[in-house]
Amino acid sequence: MNSQSLFKQYFHYSAVSSSEAHGRVNLIGEHTDYNKGFVLPTLIKQKIEVSLSPRLDNKIVGISEEFGEKTVLFDSNIDGTWIDFVRGASYYMAKEGHPIQGLDIAVTSSIPTGSGLSSSAALEIALLRALCQMVGLQLSATKIAKIGQLIEHNFIGTLCGIMDQMSSSKAKFGQALYLDCENLKTKLAPIFKDYTFVIIHSGSSRRLSEGLYNERKRETEIATKFLNISSLRHAEISNLNLIKDPKILRRARHVITENDRVQKAFEFLINNNAPAFGKLMNESHFSMDKDYEISSPELNHIVKTAQLHGALGARLTGAGFGGCTVILTSNTKKKEITDKILNNCHKSYLVTSISQNNIIN
Ligand code: GLA
Repeated sequence: MNSQSLFKQYFHYSAVSSSEAHGRVNLIGEHTDYNKGFVLPTLIKQKIEVSLSPRLDNKIVGISEEFGEKTVLFDSNIDGTWIDFVRGASYYMAKEGHPIQGLDIAVTSSIPTGSGLSSSAALEIALLRALCQMVGLQLSATKIAKIGQLIEHNFIGTLCGIMDQMSSSKAKFGQALYLDCENLKTKLAPIFKDYTFVIIHSGSSRRLSEGLYNERKRETEIATKFLNISSLRHAEISNLNLIKDPKILRRARHVITENDRVQKAFEFLINNNAPAFGKLMNESHFSMDKDYEISSPELNHIVKTAQLHGALGARLTGAGFGGCTVILTSNTKKKEITDKILNNCHKSYLVTSISQNNIIN
């Protein structure tokens, strides 16, 4: 069901404003964004839709297909439910000069949560777009992304980078978005011809707010102190020996080498060199497994199976600790590799596939 129908069914009138935002799959460049580095995501067809109308009685009345119904007072405290996203978005609308006095709101989603496909950012961007439309406010895509990130930091508790919000708010279908997270400059390049990125879920999910994500962020901040630099974006691999703590050294090595891989991967994408791109994906996964320690046995099993059966590259995507893998294969081998993984990796399932200019199921 779409959010407009859900709204009408639940509230018995039509919403005044509706919007949507898509999830993303990151092709390469993990945990580099909050280190002011580079990322290379692209949109998936799965999305979140929001329909809403104002209320004047200081209440938020919400209905979500996935999480059920909830009514709260507008100025109540955050409580760890999906309504926190609505509290956050409304708070920042007030900061933009558009105070909200209450909302009826319906949300539908086709993005699996806790999967590394950015359902959180999609909800933030869809909400902000719908609210802007409701009050007649025009904000740039980058501004909306920055507000989405603030919601995540201050109302959800994950100290995320800007990749997910920028993807949901700025990326285009069939194109990879090369984003420099230091200055938010972007470049677009079409996805490979004759090759497909297959996205397969490992069957286990995670919650970023559980703390492991923020712990990784803290570890990279410690690395910058050892190196006396403002962010790992500016670190040199030759200076790693200045880091005296072996775990912090591994974390920094992942970020430095991953930044290098993203820059090379973007060149390979432009030059239509899928085998070289795939090799970088494999190296990225190895680095995330061994140095950043964010993989899982299920994710490793999928990546190994894909590599064994002829994929050009495979890696976990998103924050890690569970969730999805992204696999690059020629179109001719796509079915064979996908079947092998689904048959061999217990609990895995196909989420979507992406190839140039179209999104295939
Ligand atoms: C999550 C965060 C992003 C990014 C990725 C890892 O998706 O929201 O900012 O750090 O993890 O690359």
